[in-house]
Amino acid sequence: MCGIVAYIGPREAYPILIKGLKRLEYRGYDSAGVALLNGVMRIYKTKGKVSDLEHVAEGHQLSAHLGMGHTRWATHGEPNDVNSHPHLSQDGSLAIIHNGIIENYGTLKEALLERGHVFKSDTDSEVLVHLIEEIRKNTKVELDEAVRLALCEVVGAYAIVIISKDDPTKLIGARKGSPLVVGIGDGEYFMASDASPIVEYTKDVTYLEDGEIAFIKDGKLSIKTIDNVAKTPFIQTLEMNLEAIEKGGYTHFMLKEIHEQPKSIYDSLRGRFDTSTGNFAMRSLKEYAHKIKNLKRIIIVGCGTSWHAGLVAEYLFEDIARIPVEVEYASEFRYRNPVIGEDDLVIAISQSGETADTLAAIEMAKEKGATVFGVCNVVGSSIPRASHAGAYTHAGPEIGVASTKAFTAQVSVMILLALGFADIKGKKSKSELRNIMAELDAIPAKVETTLKCEDQIKELAKKYKDSHNFLYLGRGYGFPVALEGALKLKEISYIHAEGYPAAEMKHGPIALIDEEMPVVVIATKNAHYEKIISNIQEVKARKGKIIAIVTEGDTKVRAMADYVIEIPDAPDIMVPLLATVPLQLLSYYIAVERGCNVDQPRNLAKSVTVE
Ligand code: G6P
Repeated sequence: MCGIVAYIGPREAYPILIKGLKRLEYRGYDSAGVALLNGVMRIYKTKGKVSDLEHVAEGHQLSAHLGMGHTRWATHGEPNDVNSHPHLSQDGSLAIIHNGIIENYGTLKEALLERGHVFKSDTDSEVLVHLIEEIRKNTKVELDEAVRLALCEVVGAYAIVIISKDDPTKLIGARKGSPLVVGIGDGEYFMASDASPIVEYTKDVTYLEDGEIAFIKDGKLSIKTIDNVAKTPFIQTLEMNLEAIEKGGYTHFMLKEIHEQPKSIYDSLRGRFDTSTGNFAMRSLKEYAHKIKNLKRIIIVGCGTSWHAGLVAEYLFEDIARIPVEVEYASEFRYRNPVIGEDDLVIAISQSGETADTLAAIEMAKEKGATVFGVCNVVGSSIPRASHAGAYTHAGPEIGVASTKAFTAQVSVMILLALGFADIKGKKSKSELRNIMAELDAIPAKVETTLKCEDQIKELAKKYKDSHNFLYLGRGYGFPVALEGALKLKEISYIHAEGYPAAEMKHGPIALIDEEMPVVVIATKNAHYEKIISNIQEVKARKGKIIAIVTEGDTKVRAMADYVIEIPDAPDIMVPLLATVPLQLLSYYIAVERGCNVDQPRNLAKSVTVE
């Protein structure tokens, strides 16, 4: 969703804000703006990208030591210049940037209109800054208190930053439901939606909790809750490094992240199991062993790619640990009245750790007494903090909007959890576990081998770039891989693609098949191999074009398919870690061939902090 960055200190604010906005641009990119305070409040904003904003600001007075910037992903009001942030109060003295949704903005706006406020934009954010102004005018309180009182009236989610023309030494930020991190430098402070704009300047940060407001005044930071309780900032050291958030010679973040998978999978597994003993070193397994031992059911919630990782995990937990699993879209789960209670374990999977629906789903599960594990990538994000336990995926920052390395890291961690649960429940012997662990150890090198298909995929992409539809088929572990492959293609190349269980094809999608239809089939050697071959024949009989992902050395599928992409042999449970990689590359190169903006596909946001 929207990206926020703010600075106060001795440096020039504008370059810091622009650089920060570029780092945050993956969050939203339909408009961008900055406010700079230097005696006067200067606002530059525009529809479009941060580079468009730079053109707008060029040649203007940009010197300031206090300022804030915003990249927008529209929720209320179409993306245009006027709806871009920052927004000003009626008298122009206060400026706000906001990420989130003020749900009761309609009611608040009506009341403000009655009091003579005039709004320039259609946004909920402008209402909030007018509300602060109105409270200040009526109650004569300080700005800090007016912000607090206004936030008490707000229903919804927000991360906001506010600056005031009347107080150039002050920066105020607050969060509820949308992340905000404060960076503490030497005589300078930063605020941002995530740490990427800050890491270059300082590693000392504090993540605001929900309902907290940070005040920076005369070089000092203080925090209080919206209920007026003072809090001591918990300062932690960032582990992120600059290299991790830059492209490092790749044309796109997505390509870099695809290529990082041997390392990110390795990092997600590192130090968590001992292949020589078959033992695990994961805190959640240790602390919740009693719970896992008697566990009757697991419910996995997530959205998008993370939901696909959940589907893989369903097969894993049932196969390996013999525990029944349900996988739910977080957005559906939270609004049903699901039957869950103390005996259930809910696992929330999320790259960002901020997805609003997933967060709401686990809050509901906790209220109903369930134990919640979070499997997230962004350290310190909201879902891990709201969970009882869990495991980070340690894939490193993922910037490309289409998730790649986060998915394979999620699957790796879910394999570990399934094995750990099997161990605790006595479903696998130590020797079985040791064998599987040895196979897992070999996966990063096998991903490296899989990546060698890149040139072949480039050729395929050229051939199929103009297709209007794609079908992806798989069975067993290949089915979630098919879904993920189809999602990747849709997301970044805007080609319609559907993932289907191969056997279900004859209940509908088969009607779509003709000589124009490329069908990507996950046809690796496993228990379903012969069945998948029958499905391939069904497609061929209707003149569909088969692109098959096969196990190296395969001859049977090769004889039938139009194209085959080989992946190394691996146990079935690990096939998603390999088979997904060529599909990521295929979607990437097709998108490049079509001239699409790979890292920032239209209408999508990396981190969906609104429902
Ligand atoms: C957005 C992103 C997807 C992601 C999904 C869930 O739609 O574009 O790539 O899979 O959100 O995000 P999460 O951070 O919870 O994994």
